[in-house]
Amino acid sequence: MNTLSQEKINEIRNSVNIVDVISSYIPLTPKGKNYFGVCPFHDDNNPSMSVSPSRQIYKCFSCGATGTVFKFIMDYENISFLEAVKKVADIGGISVNIGKVTKKQTHTELHQIYDLSLKFYINNLNTVGGKEAREYLKNRNIDEETIKEFQIGLSLKHDVLSKILIKKFKPDEVLKSGLVGKNDYGYYDLFYDRIMFPLYDLNGNPVAYSGRIYNKKDNSKYFNTRETEIFKKGELLYNYHRAKDIARKKNQIIIMEGFMDVIRSFTVGIKNVIAMMGTAVTPTQAHLIKRMAKDIILCFDGDEAGAKATMSCSNELLKIGVTPKIIRLEDNLDPDEYIQKYGKEAFQRKIDNPISVMDFKLSYLKNGKDLTSSEGEAKYISEVIGELNKIDDDILKDLTIKKIVAEMNIDEDIIRKHLEVKPKQIPKPKTQMEIKTDKYEKAESALIYYMLKSPEVITMYNKKVTYIPNREYRQLAREISSFYKNFGFISEADFIDYIECDKDLMATIGKINKQNTKETYSLEEIEDYINVIRDYNIKEEIKRLTNKMKNLTDPLDKAKIAEEIVGLKKGV
Ligand code: CTP
Ligand code: MN
Repeated sequence: MNTLSQEKINEIRNSVNIVDVISSYIPLTPKGKNYFGVCPFHDDNNPSMSVSPSRQIYKCFSCGATGTVFKFIMDYENISFLEAVKKVADIGGISVNIGKVTKKQTHTELHQIYDLSLKFYINNLNTVGGKEAREYLKNRNIDEETIKEFQIGLSLKHDVLSKILIKKFKPDEVLKSGLVGKNDYGYYDLFYDRIMFPLYDLNGNPVAYSGRIYNKKDNSKYFNTRETEIFKKGELLYNYHRAKDIARKKNQIIIMEGFMDVIRSFTVGIKNVIAMMGTAVTPTQAHLIKRMAKDIILCFDGDEAGAKATMSCSNELLKIGVTPKIIRLEDNLDPDEYIQKYGKEAFQRKIDNPISVMDFKLSYLKNGKDLTSSEGEAKYISEVIGELNKIDDDILKDLTIKKIVAEMNIDEDIIRKHLEVKPKQIPKPKTQMEIKTDKYEKAESALIYYMLKSPEVITMYNKKVTYIPNREYRQLAREISSFYKNFGFISEADFIDYIECDKDLMATIGKINKQNTKETYSLEEIEDYINVIRDYNIKEEIKRLTNKMKNLTDPLDKAKIAEEIVGLKKGV
């Protein structure tokens, strides 16, 4: 499973406080013994995630997400368990040697194909045939270091890579990669004579290419790998893996249209940047962006298309409660051109002074309208009201209303009358969040909850509970009991790390934590839970025997079972 001992993992986990770590990702506010924040693992604006400093775990009352600091980082950052352990060790100042940390993605043959193709393309750029491409890059001010960092390569003739790949990998897989095609004459490269920009998944594995034309006229500037098993365009963001940590530290992420823009910005030292790559933002991408930082700045191309894209991307973000800020560049320039023309400092000033999304929209909606005519005015105002209805930010809403009132000389009440009234979301009291369960399930769940807290309860379980009816709970209880037997102690955080790889067990723990069982217990309560479980088993057994009896014909057999049932009933 992994090369670290359970002890070392515990030491690493204990070196940090889960509250400090999680609050570096999401804002937490103290309430009683625990801390609360908005759960990043489902769509929500209510603070339904609690983080417990005493238990060193987090749990969400709404979606049931739960775990230790490792699990939080794994899920938040989309990284493997070992990567998360390494991060926590760094925070806690503990040195670990886990060698090269393996990436979360299982290394499939497709990934190997991409690793090899990347080496191949990078090498091509340094050959004699790469002279013209090298010159093109030089003319675009892309230096050696940038070429290296972004692993820029070159495709040349249209049969070399396919030959190499077919020799090494299964032909089916090679065809699946989106790099090779096949016709009557055999296999051929799909990319040739293009500068190859690798596209990466969220973990930084190369999974596709965008190939740019450089030495001839062609009607398509970029040719991209089609979607494959490992490349889903709508699920990734260009440069995500390089930008995410920097963005978190700055609490700011800048979103651009093209990867060339990102490369330029990165090269001049503004590294908290990602690109959409010319497509509309999907809900998956919007959520990724939401998690990257609090300040989200859109810096699309300065042309009309860029303004349109800014509009639609803003709306996608507003839908999930993110209010982005906007940068518009003059003279139709894109960020790459702007930085080259005016320099890093000028661009940094742009970043430091973005406009509000509503100010952007006001000027965008004015375009092409004749505001000297009443029709034009009315259309403009009604479109602004439409946009006002899309934002949650009360302050920004109010400021915009004031602006439009002054600008259009219109009565504020008229605007307010046209605004939709959104019901304020009031956090539900915890009791309502409890899922409805019958008393049997409640007893099972509570028993296990306290088993995770105390050896005393585990001992009672071992002595008195022979069978937990619910399969999921049964497996979990057995696992807890055996953990205690093996390690001689029990701690919820340790146990969770121990079973981290087991999705089913983790889900069951999530379910139990969602019940919001109170922290303390008495031994009588534990006895009660055990009795409820025992009663349930007896009732089930009586049902089973009654059914069995119905199917019997021999009166003697029947009598025997009836006697058994009577015996059982005494126990209820
Ligand atoms: N794009 C694409 N296919 C095209 C044009 C664009 O896939 N024919 C995508 C690319 O991912 C590109 C993004 O859309 O990064 C933005 O396009 P554009 O602004 O035209 O690209 P630039 O970044 O300006 O590229 P260059 O400077 O090389 O012209
Ligand atoms: Mn450009």
